[in-house]
Amino acid sequence: MSGISMPPATVSPPLWLLAELTYRCPLHCVFCYNPLDYAEHRRELELDTDEWIDVLKQARALGAAQLGFSGGEPLVRDDLETLVGEARTLGFYTNLITSGVGLSDERLDRLKAAGLDHIQLSFQDSTQALNDFLSSTRTFELKKRTAASIKQHGFPMVMNCVLHRYNLPHVAKIIDMALAMGAEYLELANTQYYGWAHANRAQLLPTREQVAVAQAVVERYRDTIGDACKIFFVVPDYFERRPKRCMNGWGAVFLGIAPDGAALPCHAARGLPGLTFPSVKTSTLREIWYDSAAFNRFRGFDWMKEPCRSCDEKARDLGGCRCQAYLLTGDPADADPVCDKSPRHGEVVDVVRLAAVAAGAVHEQPILFRNDANSQTLATSH
Ligand code: FES
Repeated sequence: MSGISMPPATVSPPLWLLAELTYRCPLHCVFCYNPLDYAEHRRELELDTDEWIDVLKQARALGAAQLGFSGGEPLVRDDLETLVGEARTLGFYTNLITSGVGLSDERLDRLKAAGLDHIQLSFQDSTQALNDFLSSTRTFELKKRTAASIKQHGFPMVMNCVLHRYNLPHVAKIIDMALAMGAEYLELANTQYYGWAHANRAQLLPTREQVAVAQAVVERYRDTIGDACKIFFVVPDYFERRPKRCMNGWGAVFLGIAPDGAALPCHAARGLPGLTFPSVKTSTLREIWYDSAAFNRFRGFDWMKEPCRSCDEKARDLGGCRCQAYLLTGDPADADPVCDKSPRHGEVVDVVRLAAVAAGAVHEQPILFRNDANSQTLATSH
């Protein structure tokens, strides 16, 4: 593989490669971003070690510099250390995105030796009860031990906690936990309502007041802790009046490779209708990134409908999130209804208003855990 090559003038190279090594996962999180029908996709064989190494080489040659190993749980792959070592040799900055389950001291030793740069460890909450309920596993104590081992091995650590109605009131305790663990970064990731989180939206969506209170708590901590821990907290889309520039633009910097080799412009893209995502098994990454219909579908402005097409802010947010537009309107080319210029914005306002009414109510529909049985049921019902 030759060195990094120059891209065509109109499309920038992919800078961020996400290698979703597997959909297998010991946890069953109710907000998992894997596709609802992941169990169907698992029938396809996962890429093997050599195929992943080829993906890494091609991505690096295209210009990718940041590499996340994710899943599912990437630690279920016993070739993870080999892939990390290869990535290091190629010059990637590598991040392991993990639940911590399976991250023994032996594996930490091997990952360190292979050159892993960074670890992102997820928690579901600061309490054992909620952490274990939301993941449908008894993993809280194990995660705490794993966090200590990660720091003993000298890795920089991001603690990640997905926020929603259940744990927003615990934000102060979550921050305290991150500080006690020595995390350099804390990602308080407000739930984005795709995939399993969308299926559980009625239970997970917080009230506007919960979000505002948590944001004030975060500000207070930022003022007092200085550089001890950098806290990321982004207000959830549904509470905004302008959409975010999702993934920094479709096919702009992010390239995800699913376990079976499907190439995706965002984590949730597999749920969009009418798009065939090319596979690294049959196309080169260069062909996929620059020439495929799927990656070109929402680049630039020509695909936009009104009100985006004539909007003077379109270059800033690029019409928002395609997956959110699809889930809220049924058409991925619509304006993201988070935007108050969208004719469908009122529906988002209604969903948020109903969240306030529903908070504390008993839901007829039980919360849906991410597991194979639920995935298969959902796949056949769509
Ligand atoms: Fe797919 Fe935003 S998550 S475009």
